Amino acid sequence: MNIRNEQAGDYVAIRRLLTEAFGGDGEAKLVDSLRADGDIAIALVADIEGEVAGYAALSVLKSPPRSLALAPVAVAPAQQRQGVGSALIEETLRRARAAEGGMVFVVGDPEYYARFGFSADAARSFDSLYAGEHFMAIALTETPAPAAPVLYSRRFAEL
Ligand SMILES: CC(C)(COP(=O)(O)OP(=O)(O)OC[C@H]1O[C@@H](n2cnc3c(N)ncnc32)[C@H](O)[C@@H]1OP(=O)(O)O)[C@@H](O)C(=O)NCCC(=O)NCCS
Repeated sequence: MNIRNEQAGDYVAIRRLLTEAFGGDGEAKLVDSLRADGDIAIALVADIEGEVAGYAALSVLKSPPRSLALAPVAVAPAQQRQGVGSALIEETLRRARAAEGGMVFVVGDPEYYARFGFSADAARSFDSLYAGEHFMAIALTETPAPAAPVLYSRRFAEL
């Protein structure tokens, strides 16, 4: 498995993968819109023998400063539960840290994301439309981001 940056030649395969993994094209359209807006900071594919088997994107949040949203993460149904999702998430976090990102927020299954260091506790002081036990964060630096509302691209509201 090769985890690498997405390239324009992957876009059709990414769209297909997201539609298959989520059972609808909402996330595929979300990614197309975020890309068109220039709001994707990091987008990685898991390339297995030349096929796009997984995808993870970090998009830019409008607030707090230097914060990112992890979404979507998807692995082709036939390749799930083999560590592909974990490898993608770990690599997106590694790259976000290297790029001196401040915080990464995610909305998802607490049990799954806890293994990467995300917690609802870390997100609690940040106001969000998504507040609750599924709304989690991880601080990438020792200095936490100032408590500020977490504002996603308006494209998420269209999902
Ligand atoms: C969630 C997802 C990305 C995980 O990818 P993956 O490659 O299967 O994950 P990994 O192999 O790294 O980890 C597997 C472990 O994660 C856990 N896991 C996987 N999917 C999970 C889910 N939806 N909820 C909770 N735990 C989950 C399981 O405990 C599994 O461990 P097990 O095989 O020992 O039971 C993948 O299942 C997927 O694409 N799902 C559909 C889209 C989606 O819901 N994306 C997340 C929201 S953005």
